[in-house]
Amino acid sequence: MCSAHELPRTQPDDAQSVDSVVVLDYGGQYSQLIARRVRECGVFSELLPHHAALEEVIRRRPKGLILSGGPASVYEENAPPLHRELLELGVPLLGICYGMQLLARELDGRVERAEVGEFGRSQLTVSDQGRLLAETPPEQTCWMSHRDTVFATPPGFRALASSTASPVAAFESTERGVYGIQFHPEVVHTPYGQKVLVNFLEDVCGCERSWSARSVIEEQIERIRAQVGDGRAICGLSGGVDSSVAALLVHRAIGDRLTCVFVDHGLMRKNEGEQVIAAFRDHFHVPLVAVDAEDRFLARLAGVTDPEEKRKRIGAEFIHVFEEEAAKLEDTRFLVQGTLYSDVIESGGGTGAATIKSHHNVGGLPEDLEFELVEPLRALFKDEVRAVGAELGLPDRLVWRQPFPGPGLAIRIVGGEATRERLDILREADAILQDEIRGAGLYRELWQSFCVLPDIRTVGVQGDVRTYGNVIVIRAVTSDDAMTADWARLPYDLLEKVASRMINEIRPVGRVVLDITSKPPGTIEWE
Ligand code: XMP
Repeated sequence: MCSAHELPRTQPDDAQSVDSVVVLDYGGQYSQLIARRVRECGVFSELLPHHAALEEVIRRRPKGLILSGGPASVYEENAPPLHRELLELGVPLLGICYGMQLLARELDGRVERAEVGEFGRSQLTVSDQGRLLAETPPEQTCWMSHRDTVFATPPGFRALASSTASPVAAFESTERGVYGIQFHPEVVHTPYGQKVLVNFLEDVCGCERSWSARSVIEEQIERIRAQVGDGRAICGLSGGVDSSVAALLVHRAIGDRLTCVFVDHGLMRKNEGEQVIAAFRDHFHVPLVAVDAEDRFLARLAGVTDPEEKRKRIGAEFIHVFEEEAAKLEDTRFLVQGTLYSDVIESGGGTGAATIKSHHNVGGLPEDLEFELVEPLRALFKDEVRAVGAELGLPDRLVWRQPFPGPGLAIRIVGGEATRERLDILREADAILQDEIRGAGLYRELWQSFCVLPDIRTVGVQGDVRTYGNVIVIRAVTSDDAMTADWARLPYDLLEKVASRMINEIRPVGRVVLDITSKPPGTIEWE
């Protein structure tokens, strides 16, 4: 991931008031994870492509630089290089895996392809803790993923550790401010990884560990005030955590000059609309326009069975409704969006244009709306958004809500038209599933859990009577980012209870089945 992205732009002016570290991405699988782990240590960090211009790095005033791992070999012709200027910036550098090998080669150490690779768990023997491995044990496990290996440290460097296949698995030169580790401190399989990162951030770079949900809130409130001045803003609430947190932050900053618009398209889950309204209007007292647009959406969906057509129509209608409401609000120049850092990185959003994912743009807005964007979550990962939401007092249900597609339940009525009757069946089934999953304490462990209603009927027998009822499919997956997913091994007892409740409580349901397809080859949604 993110091997060739352009420079992300975090904010109109992005120097953070807290200490920060830049992670240069050499295309490693774990680069984003490094940035997240650094933040978990209380230090703000940003991921930039390895070819980022020097001034982009300097502008962020980092107190340290981390060079990530990557798939290349340092001696390949087109291997991503180390920009020598980085060594002259006067800030400490930590190379991880490929990053270490780059530093070793650049500073005249010896890097070669080893006879055997080292992939997975490995045993690390620490011979000299130095500063980097301070307060970690002489023998520890770590996670490795490499074939090229550092065989000799650069002159003047201390070798700190070795492993079965790596004669030099860690090195440092405190004089030069250059540090390297062959293993991956960012993955959970390296138990002392976080300690190594803390050593680098705190002891070596002198970072103050003050990045937290609270600091984000303070900082964003100031930024929002500076951007919006005495202007007015509008925010489309979807019920998801991103738009909710973005709205709350802006409300904290500019109070009732923010108006939220919640378009209830009638394709939500049971009680979801009411929960959003209760939280925002009744609890937080945010000016909220709730539009009951169910009839309009259902009319647009009449007779439509093709999933892409459903998406298109729902998206277009959403924009209509939103624009109608926006037109009623005079003098509103700013539009609040819950764009996240991962969207910024993935969409290569260097231009400052709206980063609305085109393939998932339902509930999103077109770029030609004449608003200036306010995007207070642009620098945050999803788990940080949740932490900020919790700190702002957002109810747990909204903070921890599983992702829900913009077109809602309409794309879970597969092969058929999304009628009110079918939506009601699906909504009831979904409510039972959520209820039981929450009751079993499994809701947060699952990336998504939901029901699908295919447009078929099957035969059954109930009380000696032949039935011909609807089928409900249970779909539950674990995932980190929806790019890949595994079907969740829900307990049999739970499944049994869910199935029996669905059949007993929802008259038209005659059969319940479980989807055991992972992604790939399946997708998470059915259409
Ligand atoms: P798939 O089905 O492609 O889904 O594995 C990946 C993630 O995207 C969500 N999804 C959507 N979200 N509009 C959305 O806002 C859509 O049209 C849409 N289709 C899929 C899906 O729920 C999963 O989280």
